[in-house]
Amino acid sequence: MRLWIVAAAAAAVVAASAAPAAAADPIVIKFSHVVAPDTPKGKGAEKFKELAEKYTAGKVKVEVYPNSTLYKDKEELEALQLGAVQMLAPSNSKFGPIGIKDFEVFDLPFLLPNLDALRKVTEGPIGKRMLKLMDAKGMVGLAYWDNGFKQMSANKPLKTPADYKGLKFRIQSSKVLEAQFRMLGAVPQVMAFSEVYQALQTGVVDGQENTWSNIYTQKMHEVQKFITETNHGYIGYVVVVNKKFWDGLPADVRPQLEKAMAESTQFANSQSAKENDEAKAEIIKTGKTTIVTPTAAENAEMRKTMAPLYEEMGKRVGKELIDEVVKTVGGQS
Ligand code: LMR
Repeated sequence: MRLWIVAAAAAAVVAASAAPAAAADPIVIKFSHVVAPDTPKGKGAEKFKELAEKYTAGKVKVEVYPNSTLYKDKEELEALQLGAVQMLAPSNSKFGPIGIKDFEVFDLPFLLPNLDALRKVTEGPIGKRMLKLMDAKGMVGLAYWDNGFKQMSANKPLKTPADYKGLKFRIQSSKVLEAQFRMLGAVPQVMAFSEVYQALQTGVVDGQENTWSNIYTQKMHEVQKFITETNHGYIGYVVVVNKKFWDGLPADVRPQLEKAMAESTQFANSQSAKENDEAKAEIIKTGKTTIVTPTAAENAEMRKTMAPLYEEMGKRVGKELIDEVVKTVGGQS
């Protein structure tokens, strides 16, 4: 009997060692976001997945969940902090509710004349310093990804401040954006991105501001009679990862992921302007909305009305930071 047990045990050992080593389970990165796959962020996420899986030779699997399929705006940041997902790319305007106000500096209207000016901030010392702010919130800031410049939409043209009076606008959760619409005499309402189309369709809000690619992929142009080409503000993202997860990655994996992130960032940011131009062209093609271009005088009036925000928002995002960013981009545009 004893002999039989020993023999069986020995056989088991031989069988186990002869069996092909089971492949270790891959490390899974759940990358959740709120926009469509066919947008600058959607494409950046897919590029990261492709490169991360390639460079780690399958040790890492990236699952991308677009269109708020897992979480809406505010929930996704909480889910990241809890470790329910590992990676996100929320817009700069969405970090306020978790206690990081600095990124709202990018919401100041008419701050950035173009993307080159933005890069001077994000790729310079200010951008690096700001990414470090994520650490205290259980996240690591990995990169800045573009979307592009915002346009205003409603069922009427929005050329001068008088046009905004009394209208309700959906905003992202940024105090600077709230102040911007109040300054125009409008009523701002914070709302998750996934709810905007329906809110516009049913008249819960009258208008919103967003990039061409977000307007097009969410079909907002089908429920807004006019889009006014204001280019007054910018939407960009901070790619963030759960800190505990990131710090705990094996030493042979993290550098590969850093490489994948650097390359997908370059890819995403080289495509963003083109993608927004294409979305604008597609919107025009549908004929479902009218695009309005304000005159130089109308633009000047908008700038003048909103200029006091730079001073007023000092108490929210920091006067020094605003001054430093304005100086870096070459003055208020
Ligand atoms: C919005 O909420 O309007 C945008 O930030 C959505 C996005 O992620 O581009």
